[in-house]
Amino acid sequence: MGRTIVIANQKGGVGKTTTAINLAACIAEAGKKVLIIDLDPQGNTTSGLGLNKNEIETTVYDLIMGESSLKECMIKSEVVENLTIMPANVNLAGAEIELADVKDREYVLKNEIDYIRDDYDFIIIDCPPSLNVLTVNAMTTADTVLVPIQCEYYALEGISQLIHTIDLIHDRLNPNLILEGVVFTMYDARTNLSAEVVENVKESLDTTIYKTIIPRNVRLAEAPSYGQPINVYEPKSAGAESYRNLAKEIINRKDL
Ligand SMILES: Nc1ncnc2c1ncn2[C@@H]1O[C@H](COP(=O)(O)OP(=O)(O)O)[C@@H](O)[C@H]1O
Ligand SMILES: [Mg+2]
Repeated sequence: MGRTIVIANQKGGVGKTTTAINLAACIAEAGKKVLIIDLDPQGNTTSGLGLNKNEIETTVYDLIMGESSLKECMIKSEVVENLTIMPANVNLAGAEIELADVKDREYVLKNEIDYIRDDYDFIIIDCPPSLNVLTVNAMTTADTVLVPIQCEYYALEGISQLIHTIDLIHDRLNPNLILEGVVFTMYDARTNLSAEVVENVKESLDTTIYKTIIPRNVRLAEAPSYGQPINVYEPKSAGAESYRNLAKEIINRKDL
């Protein structure tokens, strides 16, 4: 049985998309079959993996609106072996309103993914920076929630609300859903602040904290403009090493 991990944090700019892309690519590099689902209308996961989001005709939007088959909205990555992408673009921005009077709207993604879940070792879902119906769909589809935490002031802001949302979804919509844990992103070893944030979060949160800490690394910021994940763009960079290590930790979890 595979594992479906949603990458969520309602704050923008904390490293969700960077983590989704590079974690998926590094898990695939380790020989696992991976599907990555872009559930953010910004489509940054889609473009970061080398697809032209404005030219793609069928996306996850069409799937959840019941207008396309699974096959039509999945693309095998040309840059990473073992990786399949379910892309998104700005069309998805309409989904919230359009789903408003759809029956079981919280489950439209899950009901589709259930058909192909067993074809993959891991399914990674990138979320928009909000707790809207798209994020709820991601969480009803998922087994676990991985929360990237940026090593910045106010790192914990919104985290209690996120955990409350996960609890609510666990109680009402998806009894299987649990917190996978947190991963620190954009760690800057030159500042005390990053180290303080890590300490503070460790004291405040009672969940798995991944040992791998993702450093601030300029190669990670550059890679998306080349349409490549870090392990392809700059395989020996600190960013690539860190996401490989995170992938290893996640693959090797015995309790999930
Ligand atoms: N570890 C990192 N080092 C350097 N830049 C990063 C790192 N992680 C993310 N970034 C950059 O920070 C910005 C926000 O990251 P992103 O992954 O898009 O966040 P989110 O998806 O949570 O909005 C992007 O420009 C990204 O390239
Ligand atoms: Mg993002």
